[in-house]
Amino acid sequence: MIKMAIAGCGHIAKKHAAALMDMDTARLAAVCDIRQERAESLAGRYGAAAYGDYDQMLQDKNIDAVIVCSPSGLHAAMGEQAAAAGKHVLIEKPFVLRPADGVRLVEACRQNGVRLGVVHPNRMKPIVQALRKAVDNGLFGKITHAAATLRWNRRPEYYRSEPWRGTRAFDGGILYNQAVHLLDLLNWLAGPVSEVFAYRATRMHKIECEDVLSCVLKFSSGALGLIEAAVTVYPENLEETLAIFGAEGTAVLGGRTMSQVKEWMFSSLSGEEAVNQASKLNQTGNAVGHRDILHDFVDALLCNREPLVSGREALQSLRLISAIYDSAARHRPVQVTMPGGAQNE
Ligand SMILES: NC(=O)c1ccc[n+]([C@@H]2O[C@H](COP(=O)([O-])OP(=O)(O)OC[C@H]3O[C@@H](n4cnc5c(N)ncnc54)[C@H](O)[C@@H]3O)[C@@H](O)[C@H]2O)c1
Repeated sequence: MIKMAIAGCGHIAKKHAAALMDMDTARLAAVCDIRQERAESLAGRYGAAAYGDYDQMLQDKNIDAVIVCSPSGLHAAMGEQAAAAGKHVLIEKPFVLRPADGVRLVEACRQNGVRLGVVHPNRMKPIVQALRKAVDNGLFGKITHAAATLRWNRRPEYYRSEPWRGTRAFDGGILYNQAVHLLDLLNWLAGPVSEVFAYRATRMHKIECEDVLSCVLKFSSGALGLIEAAVTVYPENLEETLAIFGAEGTAVLGGRTMSQVKEWMFSSLSGEEAVNQASKLNQTGNAVGHRDILHDFVDALLCNREPLVSGREALQSLRLISAIYDSAARHRPVQVTMPGGAQNE
């Protein structure tokens, strides 16, 4: 039985706590929030210990792992503190807000002999796994281009609900907060991306970060790509779409939260086979979530293996996002760096 703790008892913490209740390999042992009443309320519901101070919770011997659910700008420091205390770390998305912080956190976990996982449940969706298989099996032939489209709506109340939302230091912006799952998939399935050129704008919301961003990409393979991300779409979330095009195949995953196959055509499949595959994939549950990522993380601890999305893995999309913001700030193309400072060629 793995004894889990949650740091930060806001919206997403509740999902983790509920998911842990259904597990027989893990349980919620402690929670912490600087707003003590939030910690007490969550702890009371799940029979866990409540802390108002993170350092104090980390001294609790009754904890094996910490799920970091605090504002994004605190993930790096809180992850490092947990690692230093000998606790395994599962970090909510976005992993951290700067590649250098991510590298430091990966290293801190390695040095302290603890596991590091990042909450990117979309990788587990059956439609995403099928798309990955299609890429690995070369079904697209030569990939020509790929596109990630996030057309969502966030209301002014969303940004007013917590002081950290919409700030550069703690929220990070639209790519870190809203589009990070989609960009993780774009890079994982069609990447790596080698070069980016982006524009960003704050058109509607009264926030420090952008609410619209567009970006042109070059992949290492020579393929080209596009990212469109907006949280200004009237009147509500419209789509989250990932499209990959190759000489021998086309696949488009879409819907409001990328849970349906919209196009699925490969030269290696007859029209009927492709339609059957797509409809089967659309019938499987694509609403995977925190439950699935928690099961994987706990299993990784019990089997002494890397979680499906490790810190090292999450660094890939973090480097991409960082390069996009760099490009938007400097108004010029920017290369995406790989570990060790090399460029993705
Ligand atoms: N994976 C997903 O689908 C998903 C969805 C929503 C949010 N998130 C991520 O989860 C994180 C939290 O988001 P949220 O919507 O729950 O935010 P929230 O504002 O509702 O909750 C954050 C909580 O952290 C607490 N906190 C702040 N500083 C702290 C500290 N030093 N120690 C302990 N607690 C502290 C706050 O008091 C607050 O209760 C963000 O990084 C966000 O991007 C992920």
